Amino acid sequence: MAQTIHILNGPNLNLLGTREPEIYGSETLDDLRTRCERKAKALGYEVVFRQSNHEGELVSWVQEAREQAAGLIVNAGAFTHTSVALLDALLACSTPIVEVHLSNIFRREPFRHRSYVSKAAKGVICGFGGLGYELAIEALAASIAQAKAG
Ligand code: DQA
Repeated sequence: MAQTIHILNGPNLNLLGTREPEIYGSETLDDLRTRCERKAKALGYEVVFRQSNHEGELVSWVQEAREQAAGLIVNAGAFTHTSVALLDALLACSTPIVEVHLSNIFRREPFRHRSYVSKAAKGVICGFGGLGYELAIEALAASIAQAKAG
């Protein structure tokens, strides 16, 4: 059975395609899902791709990933900048975590410069739009392979 990469998307990312396209681009969340599935398959992984507007649901999904995923990709949306609960859930995971943002959060408002997620992440990819998700899958696959090699 193929190993699974869980990809979790936070609030308002369901609106991709129509939400501030000058910042987030024209790709929809479904487009991102398709990109991720294709990239993961090429590397021998399956993908669980989810989005929620609710912090508690995201925490539960992180806990599920802790048990089931070979790796975890998180774009927590605005919860990136606010959620200690999400950070605590991520810190409880021993699987590698990559944080992704479509936009370059460091070129934006100061309140977006701080990420709670980063403390739990092996690395952060931001500013490359949907490509960032594919880069994150590649980075995770390399981390998982490296960990296996010991
Ligand atoms: C985002 C950046 C966040 O600051 C913002 O709240 C989002 C999307 C991104 O992907 O660029 O909702 O995570």
